[in-house]
Amino acid sequence: MVMTNETLHDRFIALADLPEQGRVVNLGCGAGPALQAFSRRCPAASLVGFDRSAQALDTAQERLQDHGGGVVLAAVDLRDRLPLNDESVDAVISSNLIECLPDPALLLKEIWRVLRPGGRAVLSHSDFDALVISGAPVELDRRVCHAFADDAPTWMDSSDGRIGRKLPGLANASPLALTHVETLVTSSTSLDGHAGRRVEDIRGALQATARRGQGYVEVAEIDEWYMAVQQAATHGEFFFAETAVIVSVQRL
Ligand SMILES: C[S@@+](CC[C@H](N)C(=O)[O-])C[C@H]1O[C@@H](n2cnc3c(N)ncnc32)[C@H](O)[C@@H]1O
Repeated sequence: MVMTNETLHDRFIALADLPEQGRVVNLGCGAGPALQAFSRRCPAASLVGFDRSAQALDTAQERLQDHGGGVVLAAVDLRDRLPLNDESVDAVISSNLIECLPDPALLLKEIWRVLRPGGRAVLSHSDFDALVISGAPVELDRRVCHAFADDAPTWMDSSDGRIGRKLPGLANASPLALTHVETLVTSSTSLDGHAGRRVEDIRGALQATARRGQGYVEVAEIDEWYMAVQQAATHGEFFFAETAVIVSVQRL
């Protein structure tokens, strides 16, 4: 059984409470999956996506080419001030971006600045230190999951595997009002979909770190873990659960 990422996007749409022709900004939009979900459900909305990956933005542009309500996608470094006027946005959404930023509090201040009074932001982040994988022998599963939570890939300016559980505290320390907190668990007993992609991410990230002589698992251990996970999935013994923390905040 697989629970797909669609559910996260459904929660973004429900919690953002976007007016019919409202303007929603996706910070760290990547290849645009969340904006695509808004496009399907809110066809008249004005969609804005910021990311610093030109390649991801190209894919997002293709995916959103038929959206009727207006689309702006731009290469923006989200460590800086947002290129948006004060009180010019109805809703902000963001998933799995905040751990990449050395100063998340600055982004929350910026979100407050650009939201209109009453506007909402929905921020979500997987808590990678709470990742559950059953595939290899227990010590190896633990070592690999903990190494992934502590991993600091070169493409991120900063990393924090426990950022998910810190989101409510970050929101409370910001000028925004925290209105809602929930968790969403994506679970799977097969390597199809999200679980399979995450297993590949873990393997790729930890191998790159090990080859730089960093981290605390060796390339051979990662290979052993990966093989064991594949075997477990073949024999119906694999289980995966990733918990995302979702907070909804409002500019009062
Ligand atoms: C883990 S991906 C999440 C992508 C998307 N939100 C999703 O959930 O599919 C993190 C994204 O943040 C972007 N990113 C990381 N640091 C950034 C920064 N300083 N400024 C802009 N984008 C950044 C990356 O390019 C990447 O697309």
